Amino acid sequence: MKPEDNQQRGLAAARSPIVSDQMREAIARLPTGVTVVTTVDEGRSLTGATLSSFTQVSLESPSVLICVNRDSRTCDAVDRSGIFAVNVLAASQERVARAFSMPGESQDEKFASVHWSARKTGAPVFDGVCSWMDCVTLDRHDFGTHAVFIGAVVAAGSDTWDEAPLTYYRHRIFPLRERA
Ligand SMILES: Cc1cc2nc3c(=O)[nH]c(=O)nc-3n(C[C@H](O)[C@H](O)[C@H](O)COP(=O)(O)O)c2cc1C
Repeated sequence: MKPEDNQQRGLAAARSPIVSDQMREAIARLPTGVTVVTTVDEGRSLTGATLSSFTQVSLESPSVLICVNRDSRTCDAVDRSGIFAVNVLAASQERVARAFSMPGESQDEKFASVHWSARKTGAPVFDGVCSWMDCVTLDRHDFGTHAVFIGAVVAAGSDTWDEAPLTYYRHRIFPLRERA
């Protein structure tokens, strides 16, 4: 089967409300971390959003991917800037997770909830995060409602190794109680 045929079949399946509801409940059973993805444009405007759809692509060729709703401001901003930072939120940053997930909230309001600094690309890295990855966008793939951005990690750090991370599980955000 050709990839285009597969994509058509996939899009048709993804439009089904039943599969969508089942998927929502199934994916909710996978605990993830909570990140805020940020970027900055040439005019120094900041944009960021809370994202759980984040994973590594490769450690040997340091790279990650994020899945961003194409209707979000962050999708446009990352597309335009070609850079993004992934902030892995710590247990004490629940307020930050909520601020950056508020639809329609001004970016000024969002960034008022954090102290941040620029590392290699200039994208904002927050104080107090468990870890961060600073990325240059390599590729973008669109599927349905979302865009998948693949980023080469050009700098990374784990500043507060001892602090527990925030977790997203069964539609709730809470601190991971037991750490490895
Ligand atoms: C825990 C959590 C995880 C989220 N994960 C994602 C995600 O992976 N991708 C996405 O596009 N939106 C995700 N969102 C929703 C965005 O944070 C939200 O739509 C935000 O308002 C987008 O902001 P913007 O329009 O300023 O970019 C998540 C929200 C929460 C609370």
